[in-house]
Amino acid sequence: MAFDIVAYKTTAAPVRIDDLDIDSAFIDRPLSADALRCLRYMSDIESHTICYLRDLLVTPSHADPQVTTFLTMWALEEFWHGEALAKVLAVHGVPTEDEHIRQVRLRLGWRDRMAPIEQALLANIVGEAYIAVHMSWGAINEWSTHVAYSRLAELEQHPVLTELLERIMRQESRHAAFYASQARDRLEASKRARRLTRFALRLFWAPVGTGLMPKEDTAFITRHLLGGEVGARLIDQLDQKIARLPGMAGMSLVSRATAKYLRAARPALAAA
Ligand SMILES: [Fe+2]
Ligand SMILES: [Fe+2]
Repeated sequence: MAFDIVAYKTTAAPVRIDDLDIDSAFIDRPLSADALRCLRYMSDIESHTICYLRDLLVTPSHADPQVTTFLTMWALEEFWHGEALAKVLAVHGVPTEDEHIRQVRLRLGWRDRMAPIEQALLANIVGEAYIAVHMSWGAINEWSTHVAYSRLAELEQHPVLTELLERIMRQESRHAAFYASQARDRLEASKRARRLTRFALRLFWAPVGTGLMPKEDTAFITRHLLGGEVGARLIDQLDQKIARLPGMAGMSLVSRATAKYLRAARPALAAA
């Protein structure tokens, strides 16, 4: 079914949190240190969305009005996800606010400053087919994010956290629906787009937050949320979803990209 962009643009909104008693709910029952580390990671990524958008607007994606309408609303919703998670972190005394976000951006250094130039050159050489890569990438990241929030809620079993994450997940589902419907159409229509997307995903895709967050944090969140038998099943489900995109069968993308973090976890677990 085609994505209804008109319905989306008229209903996109900050995730509602004013009716959640965040202040006292987490004072009465604080989250675990592991959950807070995951939320720190998630909040930092959500708050970085405007920077990802900077790099995307220098590509051919900027010429498609449906894509830019979506990206406008997407950036707004992701911004508020970051703010909502930061509020939970703040109740636990974890630093948030502008100074923290500034530091996350500054630590990226010169690579971050070069990113829009690199992206503009590469993407504009590729042309229209680049949009299929962007849309497929977006779908995979939104699916992964949804799985991560869902698993965190399940592990933590905190009613207010679960409610907040479910609200965020409903918005992530709409993001995923847009990206996936665009990706399917564009991949179906072009052999070049299928080839290029497969090539780019294989070569460059990594778990959400890679490059922005320190490696040890990506390793931690991968093990915490995607470790064990439950994690293996979730990774498999993600890979099956990706395989249903035209031309993307049999890549085991998530399984390959998470293997190094999950492999590294085994000796530590065995020794514990
Ligand atoms: Fe989000
Ligand atoms: Fe999202």
